[in-house]
Amino acid sequence: MVYLTRRETFNAAHKLYNNHWSPEENDTIFGKCANKNWHGHNYVLFVTVKGNPDPETGFIVNVKTLSKVIKEVVVDKLDHSNLNLDVDFIPKDIHPTTENLVKLIWQQLEPHITGCQLHSIKLQETENIYAEYFGE
Ligand code: NI
Repeated sequence: MVYLTRRETFNAAHKLYNNHWSPEENDTIFGKCANKNWHGHNYVLFVTVKGNPDPETGFIVNVKTLSKVIKEVVVDKLDHSNLNLDVDFIPKDIHPTTENLVKLIWQQLEPHITGCQLHSIKLQETENIYAEYFGE
């Protein structure tokens, strides 16, 4: 089995805030991500698929096709968006954390992956933190 990863980037705004908590509690839990006037991140998305290389092409998937699908199904919707308000596949009642985003991106993308299997979604929010989801 061979694993192939495509990297894509997007930037987006969000706010992490629980309306049932006081501003102080939100600051304590979410820190700068609770800023009431939003803030942005430069996200890096890694989509890993797995399969066996086709004998005729040597590819497990055509990466141009894969990149096009990732852009159309996920990245074009996320890029330059407000993750709390704008994205049709992000429910309004969940916090747009990196942890929740990897699951939602998986659900969005998985039905569109053909000829190989989706293995993982990794999303880097800053240089120092990322979340990964393997579909479980
Ligand atoms: Ni943030």
